[in-house]
Amino acid sequence: MITVESVSKNFNGKKAVDNISFQANDKEVIVLLGTSGCGKTTTLKMLNRLIEPDSGAIFIDGKNILEQKPEEIRRGIGFVMQHSGLFPHYTIQQNIAVVPDLLKWDTKKTKRRTQELIHKLHLPEDILNRFPNELSGGQQQRVGIARALIADSPILLMDEPFGALDNITKANIHSEFKSLEELKNKTIILVTHDIQEAFELGHKICLMHEGKIIQTGTPKEMLYQQKNDFVKKFFAENRLLLEYKVATLKDMKNDIDFSRLYEKFKFSEHTSLWDVFQKLSTDNWFLEDYENLVRAFNDYRKLQII
Ligand SMILES: Nc1ncnc2c1ncn2[C@@H]1O[C@H](COP(=O)(O)OP(=O)(O)OP(=O)(O)O)[C@@H](O)[C@H]1O
Ligand SMILES: [Mg+2]
Repeated sequence: MITVESVSKNFNGKKAVDNISFQANDKEVIVLLGTSGCGKTTTLKMLNRLIEPDSGAIFIDGKNILEQKPEEIRRGIGFVMQHSGLFPHYTIQQNIAVVPDLLKWDTKKTKRRTQELIHKLHLPEDILNRFPNELSGGQQQRVGIARALIADSPILLMDEPFGALDNITKANIHSEFKSLEELKNKTIILVTHDIQEAFELGHKICLMHEGKIIQTGTPKEMLYQQKNDFVKKFFAENRLLLEYKVATLKDMKNDIDFSRLYEKFKFSEHTSLWDVFQKLSTDNWFLEDYENLVRAFNDYRKLQII
């Protein structure tokens, strides 16, 4: 568990992070969401002591990280840097092997694990002997992710890990992110300014603005229990789309029989309405189910908003 308590950081007398507190339970994905310059990267870097806070305390599993050696803390934390952060003069193979080399893994083990991750992240094998500038931006980012995953540490800090990907690759990686066994047992702090990404991947979202956390909550709470006008405005443009993404078949009134949909499309009760409508509009129309679902969603929505 990670606990951040009243942490602040100033740069040249200007507050970059202003008295923030949040908690990440084990195996949770917490998203730090906010516009450029609101303090996301600074917050993330304080969690592995790349930046030292001016005040406040950070605990990992109950221990104050400021009382531990930075190298020791970092051994238990994988870090995906914004813009990949690969070493330009190292080959991809060498970049991925940085942590295994520090941990003195034998070469065979490193190679095996590298192959495994390259495969999982859909990177071609011939990149291993290339240098970072010989890869596309999206490939570099995936190498950055492989590097952070290689030692299988229990905590993963990810700073805009999918920022350089096109929408199609991003959507594929998002769905893999949710199903990758590697990630299921990890506590993950993910930084993004992409609202949809925050809703897709986060169990909890911390919405930041000018160094402060304005609201923390589940994606549903961010939509239906908004704390103030800032939160309302922040999500206003994407609101309907986000509502479709957070509502699942399980949330719909259960007097409608969706068994046909479950069978034909392999939906489960956790499938979002967004995914259901996407399928219904591209596959054969199930008009009656579609209409029932629209009605059920509207009923659900009214109950949430009241
Ligand atoms: N080393 C530094 N020295 C001085 N100011 C800094 C430093 N690092 C960050 N800042 C300032 O602190 C504020 C927060 O920066 P930070 O990098 O945490 O933002 P961010 O939310 O990650 O933004 P982005 O989405 O653009 O990456 C900004 O105003 C930035 O200019
Ligand atoms: Mg940043």
